[in-house]
Amino acid sequence: MESYGEETAAAIAERHRDEPPLDISVKSDPEGWTEKLDGLLLPTGSIRLRERGGITGLPGFDEGAWWVQDAAAALPVRLLAPKPGERIADLCAAPGGKTAQLAAMGAAVTAVDRSGPRLRRLRANLERLGLSAEIVTKDATLWDAEPFDAVLLDAPCSATGTIRRHPDVAWTKSPDDRDKLVALQARLLEAAARLTKPGGRLVYCTCSLEPQEGEAQIEAFLKAHVDFVRKPIEAAEIGGLGEAIDHNGDLRTLPHQLHNDTPRLSGWSGFYATRLIRL
Ligand SMILES: C[S@@+](CC[C@H](N)C(=O)[O-])C[C@H]1O[C@@H](n2cnc3c(N)ncnc32)[C@H](O)[C@@H]1O
Repeated sequence: MESYGEETAAAIAERHRDEPPLDISVKSDPEGWTEKLDGLLLPTGSIRLRERGGITGLPGFDEGAWWVQDAAAALPVRLLAPKPGERIADLCAAPGGKTAQLAAMGAAVTAVDRSGPRLRRLRANLERLGLSAEIVTKDATLWDAEPFDAVLLDAPCSATGTIRRHPDVAWTKSPDDRDKLVALQARLLEAAARLTKPGGRLVYCTCSLEPQEGEAQIEAFLKAHVDFVRKPIEAAEIGGLGEAIDHNGDLRTLPHQLHNDTPRLSGWSGFYATRLIRL
């Protein structure tokens, strides 16, 4: 409420009461898969399924044509705009929704995460999709490698943007947890900066509604790193949804945006993302 005002906070709370939508990302042919799955093609390119139900029995699952991914969670990789053959580091990668997007777009991806069990899920997901990435089990704050063309940092966060999917978040995460996460995010950003080559892109994102984990985190980073500048996001990059871009040109999706008259087909997760360029 403090961050967004009474009206927006009420709209977010209202949306949190509805069953969340089920979105998928496809490797290719979004129009064709929308038809085959009787879905709704969103302006950002994700497909929203009209029915929830057994995912694994749906057309295209066994052949690895698509994976489940919230429509807002699919945006950071679009902002990174990977080109075929580019070397890209995906820091905090598991379970791999964004790794799959990067690999499907032809990038040479290195997926780093400190959790072995979560990386096993990432490996299984990539196998089903017929995609590949180099996988590194390591604390990303301690990891070193030759700098990359682009780095994606999907940092661990309080996850307050996903309360509709994970209502327990509201009860299990305290302000104290958030402060520890803010400190970890700052250390991960230092690592991400080191791993970005001059002229390269760095996309930082969190599924949090807290400005401390988004806007304020990046304001502090840019003050301390004069060799990084923001490359503002344009509405055309996210299907014309200008309401999800803030005054700095960063992405700020909120759970009540992306309206549909059917509540279960309405909204998306709350995400923050910024795109920086290393000079
Ligand atoms: C928001 S989730 C990542 C979701 C993933 N990018 C996706 O799109 O499927 C955050 C991840 O950060 C990992 N993590 C937390 N601290 C880390 C660290 N210091 N180094 C590497 N990974 C870390 C967690 O294990 C978790 O998998």
